[in-house]
Amino acid sequence: MTFDRSVKIAPSILSADFADFGREIQAIEAQGADWVHVDVMDNHFVPNLTFGPPAVKAFRPHVKTVMDVHLMIAPVDPSIEAYADAGADILTAHVEAGPHIHRTLQAIRAAGMKAGVALNPGTPAEAVSHVLDLADLVCVMTVNPGFGGQKFVDMTAKIRRLREMIGDRPVHIEIDGGVDPTTAPLVVSAGADVLVAGSAVFRGGSVADPAPYGANIAAIRAAARG
Ligand code: DX5
Ligand code: ZN
Repeated sequence: MTFDRSVKIAPSILSADFADFGREIQAIEAQGADWVHVDVMDNHFVPNLTFGPPAVKAFRPHVKTVMDVHLMIAPVDPSIEAYADAGADILTAHVEAGPHIHRTLQAIRAAGMKAGVALNPGTPAEAVSHVLDLADLVCVMTVNPGFGGQKFVDMTAKIRRLREMIGDRPVHIEIDGGVDPTTAPLVVSAGADVLVAGSAVFRGGSVADPAPYGANIAAIRAAARG
């Protein structure tokens, strides 16, 4: 993975057919996805439950791009090795998930992955000001995590602030929640480069009829370019 700030669309397989992840991943990549976003939820840090390391490991051979694993779990540290073994390229932990985000980011890199740090809507940009040299990605949540299809919460001021704080560091700003062709231009003009989108990518399509995935991805990309 080489670093650049071009806009990348990362469909969230939270909106895929849960009985058909392999073919869903192949379909979104064939339709233009830049990364594949994998939402891990534990029914503790967030009020929803998805899947864990064995499932993520089973997704791995289907992902030809970048497997971007978003942990909505607490604690994080005991699971880091399992996600490295599962083949995550990027592993993102929430700053709210425990008292030791600094240690967590160090441990993610030590396990051979890129390290991401996520911020809930109620958490200020400054919460990551002392870990920016340990992070490869900052994920700004634009919904409260736990579910797809929620209404976008405007975090434009936080994104601008993070973009200033990051400066020349090779750190992506990822936006997660409620991204669609209407909200994408707002977040990209504020400084984001990775756009996670679940419902706005998967709506109207299926493994049997994947062309709408491509049209949806193209629409978000075109809107983001302005
Ligand atoms: C929310 C997840 C998101 C979610 C986005 O907790 O982290 O990745 O799937 O879904 P949409 O794009 O539908 O808001
Ligand atoms: Zn996510």
